[in-house]
Amino acid sequence: MAYSDKVIDHYTNPRNVGTLDKSSTTVGTGLVGAPECGDVMRLQIQVDENNIITDAKFKTFGCGSAIASSSLATEWLKGKSVDDAMKIDNMDIVEELALPPVKIHCSVLAEDAIKAAINDYRVKNGMEPIELEKSH
Ligand code: FES
Ligand code: FES
Repeated sequence: MAYSDKVIDHYTNPRNVGTLDKSSTTVGTGLVGAPECGDVMRLQIQVDENNIITDAKFKTFGCGSAIASSSLATEWLKGKSVDDAMKIDNMDIVEELALPPVKIHCSVLAEDAIKAAINDYRVKNGMEPIELEKSH
């Protein structure tokens, strides 16, 4: 399969690989797996007192498209409000990376990881988790 230049760029030079302090109340951690392939993604956000995401990190044990999707997601997350982060749709990632149909679920993993991280942050800070509809 031919990967787009953007996938190759993020795959060979992934942004924001790493770990934030999971125990901090200002950090939200999302850990999700794709039933289709068994790949696993962890995505973390650091949120400031104004509800702005100041940092994002990921670790993905998965295919090139999943790594590229999570790398792109961390770039998009930084500087966004939590509310705007909630609106990131996997199809935005598909479009930006020009993922082929068989790789759509890799982008779904990234959207799910973002939402899981936000919900972890919300629950830690006494907010209700946001009800998630399946995004695909
Ligand atoms: Fe692949 Fe939903 S199962 S996009
Ligand atoms: Fe599983 Fe890409 S093939 S996340």
